[in-house]
Amino acid sequence: MWYNAFVAASITIIKITIFFFHPSTDYYYSKSHKEVVFRMTTEQKYEKLKTTIDQWKGKDGALMPVMHEAQDIFGCIDEQTQEFISEHLGCKKSQIYGVATFYSRFTLTGRGKNIINCCLGTACYVRGAQDVYDEFAKQLGIQPGETTQDGLFTLESARCIGCCGLAPAMMINEEVYGRLTPGSVTEIIAKYRAIG
Ligand code: FES
Repeated sequence: MWYNAFVAASITIIKITIFFFHPSTDYYYSKSHKEVVFRMTTEQKYEKLKTTIDQWKGKDGALMPVMHEAQDIFGCIDEQTQEFISEHLGCKKSQIYGVATFYSRFTLTGRGKNIINCCLGTACYVRGAQDVYDEFAKQLGIQPGETTQDGLFTLESARCIGCCGLAPAMMINEEVYGRLTPGSVTEIIAKYRAIG
């Protein structure tokens, strides 16, 4: 018991120390103000990726684990990341691009923390799904397929999410919402913004 409390206190002290004395670390308070959440700077992200590349360089099948790591760190394999991997791992950029576009695990552009997947299948469409979809685009200020600048939302559509009885329906991440109207949108967005 006392040991767990000691460890928790130590971690808190370390976090607070970094919080105040590491000027290059991008940080923020979570909305609940219960914890300090750290984000890596771009420089730190590339350092982390370089560490993985160094571990795998020269080994068979090095590209896949490096790309998985890059996807986890950056949330996508964009052009700059492809160039970085190519330069440090010593493989062709075209090869990296080929792998990134072949496997659905990889994306070329970043996706948001919350993926809004509005169903535009027939059952939903005839019950006004397009209006709900348009309202999300309007309130978030993005076009379908885009991600908000704060990285919180990506807006996408689906042909059927298997909840036709709830039409018009959509999913945000793993959560299903049904019987939507454009008037539902503000509250749903606010809910996810509050979580941060
Ligand atoms: S058509 Fe929308 S859930 Fe099936």
